Amino acid sequence: MGGVAENMQALLLLLVILLPPEAGAGEIIGGIESKPHSRPYMAQLEIITNKGKFARCGGFLISQEFVITAAHCKGRNITVILGVHNMSQEESTWQKLLVKEQVIHPGYNFITNLNDIMLLKLQNKANLTHAVGTIPLPPKSTFLPPGRMCWATGWGRTGVNQPGSPTLREVKLKLMGAKACDHFLFYNNNFQICAGNPRNIRSIYKGDSGGPLLCAGVAQGVTSYVSRDAKPPAVFTRISPYVPWINEVLKKDNQSLNG
Ligand SMILES: *[C@@H]1O[C@H](CO)[C@@H](O)[C@H](O)[C@H]1NC(C)=O
Ligand SMILES: *[C@@H]1O[C@H](CO)[C@@H](O)[C@H](O)[C@H]1NC(C)=O
Ligand SMILES: *[C@@H]1O[C@H](CO)[C@@H](O)[C@H](O)[C@H]1NC(C)=O
Repeated sequence: MGGVAENMQALLLLLVILLPPEAGAGEIIGGIESKPHSRPYMAQLEIITNKGKFARCGGFLISQEFVITAAHCKGRNITVILGVHNMSQEESTWQKLLVKEQVIHPGYNFITNLNDIMLLKLQNKANLTHAVGTIPLPPKSTFLPPGRMCWATGWGRTGVNQPGSPTLREVKLKLMGAKACDHFLFYNNNFQICAGNPRNIRSIYKGDSGGPLLCAGVAQGVTSYVSRDAKPPAVFTRISPYVPWINEVLKKDNQSLNG
């Protein structure tokens, strides 16, 4: 049978790993190296995709047992590494944890790339240390005005044809009005954030998917996609409307543990 959607997904996966229609989600272009362990909520994801390929994404720790990432980072098997700065050499701060459950948002659509958010339940609790910590989520009614400056972070590519970065990098991005993302066919400002001034060469790219968009120390977005040539702005899943769903998943998990 192989529906159109299935074929389209197969094609996309051949062209770009984990990338939604418009884009290469996730590399930090034009950013700077983060101060080691200054962003202790950052998670490095090692993914075996459903097709058996190896891929990487970012994510961030919101409790000792849950990491948020993008739904398009789903796979057959995911390992989370916390406390990483330079991934090419294992550091004593690392905590490697297997993912017990991938809770993909029920509304995730890989063609429109809407609701691109997923919760990862870890098999064991992370230990909170100076290099591993959680980040707060916004209240559900947060309104972020365009013009604010936020940060995206990740181990993604540092240029369209560059490899991923071994060390964590971060880039400052300006929040844009919805119009700046009009060219993305399925952009929806209620559920997504448009960030990155088109006049700057600063963006996220492949490998940064699933990482946070940070505004004043709060995770307001999840890195989702950017155009193939990495030209900003990029699209992030807006976290605030998903806070009730996130709380629901965490609460259910608690109940099943105690009941
Ligand atoms: C996932 O990968 C890890 C690390 O390679 C391995 O230890 C684990 O058994 C795998 N889990 C499954 C369900 O395949
Ligand atoms: C990361 O670690 C590798 C291996 O130790 C080292 O060669 C490299 O210089 C480090 N990278 C940075 C940017 O510190
Ligand atoms: C957390 O600390 C305990 C006790 O030291 C240790 O046994 C466990 O392996 C640690 N967990 C991780 C994920 O490193």
